[in-house]
Amino acid sequence: MDDYAISASAAVDIVAGYVAQAREGRGSVTTQPDPDVLATELELDRWIRHGGMGHEALAEWLPRYLDATVRLHHPGSLAHQVAVPSTGPAVADLIHGATNNPMAKYEMGAAGATIEREVVRWMLEKVGFDRQVGGGVLTHGGSLANLTALLAARARAAPDAWRRGVPGDLALLAPPSVHYSVRRAAAILGLGEDAVVELDVDELERIRPDRLAAGLDRCAAAGRRPMALVAVAPATSTGLHDDLSGIGAFCAEHGIWLHVDAAHGGSALLSERHRHLLAGIERADSVVWDAHKMLRTSGLCAAVLVRRDEDLPAAFQQKGDYVFDDREAVGFDLLDRALETTKTTLGLKLFLSLAWAGELGLGDYVASRYDLALRFHEALSGEPGVSCPYAPESNIVCFRVGHGDQLALLDRLMANGRLHFGSTTITGERYLRLVVTAPDTDEATLAELIQALREAAGARGVTARPA
Ligand SMILES: Cc1ncc(COP(=O)(O)O)c(C=O)c1O
Repeated sequence: MDDYAISASAAVDIVAGYVAQAREGRGSVTTQPDPDVLATELELDRWIRHGGMGHEALAEWLPRYLDATVRLHHPGSLAHQVAVPSTGPAVADLIHGATNNPMAKYEMGAAGATIEREVVRWMLEKVGFDRQVGGGVLTHGGSLANLTALLAARARAAPDAWRRGVPGDLALLAPPSVHYSVRRAAAILGLGEDAVVELDVDELERIRPDRLAAGLDRCAAAGRRPMALVAVAPATSTGLHDDLSGIGAFCAEHGIWLHVDAAHGGSALLSERHRHLLAGIERADSVVWDAHKMLRTSGLCAAVLVRRDEDLPAAFQQKGDYVFDDREAVGFDLLDRALETTKTTLGLKLFLSLAWAGELGLGDYVASRYDLALRFHEALSGEPGVSCPYAPESNIVCFRVGHGDQLALLDRLMANGRLHFGSTTITGERYLRLVVTAPDTDEATLAELIQALREAAGARGVTARPA
């Protein structure tokens, strides 16, 4: 065997052991060492300057690297919306790592490009777009996908903006809780962050369809016209969904581009019992759906989907670069519809995730995590001093414990490294936040969380009064 085969197989064995151990809940979910200490422990300077790492040194070094990772497969991993990759996507990364076909041009990777086209068509179908009429592209992440979709919306509202610059009267209507990548996109697109007109929301930060007209009036009063309205499915902080049907009807009536950020929740389209949460998504002009959140696909793999295929190339009115030419050639290129030039074979990851589990299997996975989140909510709601502002609609659960400093409590709960979760704010108030994603998170994890809460409350005398 050559060095590649020996090294890759050594790495695979070590990583497989790491995954198995994490799945059994052995050890800590996360460690947060000092970066300078870690750099020394991993001998980074030595390897950078002198190289020479072969399979033997790798086999000694890799466990040290893995030791300082966040173990997403661990049942106590409840902090983030990052996918726990299944076997297929992990193998896809290995394959891409060797083949490295940057397939935005068909000529540079026919297999990767064809797979991307097919998984995008599958996603269009799931959203309810016509797969012959709609279009899409895979991007390196939901933030880039939001930017791409809003660029397409800008091209619709201001077709000359690409050449002449952005008119000063465009607005983006969005709820205050919209993912920060949307505000960032407004700034990057040249609208400026002030162009984001905040829509009225309810006490749980959901868009109020009955107050949309007021938002439009505010927009007009500011001398602006809407470039797009952004709704979320679901919101990053709460995991609650906007009413896409009501919002879609309003946008259709007023001719407003509807962008649905379903980065997190698009995957619920695969669960028969949860699909209704996204009812109305088919009314959107553009949709973002991250496979690297709930489709068990390693980062990065996000989709921008548009109802009319021509809207994507309209967003990028560029010609004449070294990679563009008018020759008749077999296949198709993706350069006319993506921000990236070189792309990894994003579709291969999602394809192998599907090839392992099938769409029904992935739907069952999503359903099981959404169901378990409800169980977490029920159990937490029954604990003295714990308040949960709403029953979860997805796998995101928010709660507060007593009236004290929630961040200090979070640090205490995570001190022994067995549980990893985070916090958020809802209408300005701090909450603890769990994202039930790992396939091995179960009732035992819940019992451990409740026990940790009781111990932390006992140690610090958290008040039993409802917050
Ligand atoms: C609703 C929503 N949109 C967009 C993003 C950004 O996605 P990414 O991290 O893939 O850039 C996130 C990430 O959490 C999200 O929750």
